[in-house]
Amino acid sequence: MKQQLETIRASALEALSQVASAEELEALRVRVLGKKGELTAVLKMMGGLSAEERPVMGQLANSVRAEIEQHLESRKAELKARMLEAKLKAEALDVTVPGTKPKQGHRHPMNIALDEVKDVFVGMGFDIVDGPEVELSDYNFTKLNTPEGHPARDHSDTFYLTEDDSVLLRTQTSPMQIRVMETRKPPIRIFAPGRVYRKDEVDATHSPMFHQMEGLVVDKGITMTDLKGCLEQMVKALYGADAVVRFRPHHFPFTEPSCEVDVQCFECHGAGCRTCKGEGWIELLGAGMVHPKVLAGCGIDPDEYSGFAFGVGLERMAMRRFAISDMRLIFENDVRFLEQF
Ligand code: DAH
Repeated sequence: MKQQLETIRASALEALSQVASAEELEALRVRVLGKKGELTAVLKMMGGLSAEERPVMGQLANSVRAEIEQHLESRKAELKARMLEAKLKAEALDVTVPGTKPKQGHRHPMNIALDEVKDVFVGMGFDIVDGPEVELSDYNFTKLNTPEGHPARDHSDTFYLTEDDSVLLRTQTSPMQIRVMETRKPPIRIFAPGRVYRKDEVDATHSPMFHQMEGLVVDKGITMTDLKGCLEQMVKALYGADAVVRFRPHHFPFTEPSCEVDVQCFECHGAGCRTCKGEGWIELLGAGMVHPKVLAGCGIDPDEYSGFAFGVGLERMAMRRFAISDMRLIFENDVRFLEQF
């Protein structure tokens, strides 16, 4: 029996050293120590021993069991540690591998140009306001002193949305003047950028949808001098302190007097070149003193208050700012173009 116990011990310890997984370990435990295991089978034969032999064999059997159990436990811990190590190794990240840089988006050149202009006017204390692109004819024309039958109302130029022509896509941001004067009291100093629509064929300098920015100042004692100072400030902020500005008389129904503002061509400094089409000057915007009829129509007393207004085309401004030769590039959004900004 002693021999048998020693064999069990030796073979169990040998098997233990070969075990490679938790399942194999458990199978070994059942085979040796289980109810129907090798050791149990030997213990069952203890009844046949003499009274002197029994305690000796009992002690030996217990020490064999204890030894095997101890080795089982330590083998179990060893396997567990090895599995953890393998798992960590499999999941390891090499933090020194260079990453792939995500593609970075770009601000659209129109937004860059618009933000620059906004900065100038916010710096002069203007509020930025927003208004509808689907507009009433009343606001786009009538209240801007543009009566029925005026050529600006032509169906060939304007997108009307109703049979009776009372609703349209705004052709200018000037209706924002009316919307503001009807809802705010002077002093008013606002700036309204937004989309406008006209039935223009698409070419290098035209698009049926484009952007304008409207400016409006109403207060006591506002004169043409304020208009000139404000616009000169804008031009110098955008085009540099040495930019030269010119005011030309013009006509708009909603301003009196009206003017157009040109900036001297930066390419040829007035001599005439391709950029300015030989003019020496580049047209920037329309402006004027708000017509007394327009003020009165909005409930502002023209004897007490006066104001100036101006409207700027944003595409032209962006095209000059970034030397973009074709307006279509601005709207096509080809990433090869956009990536350049
Ligand atoms: N709305 C005019 C246009 O689209 C531009 C303009 C001219 C706006 C004179 C003004 C202004 O505010 O006073 O051509």
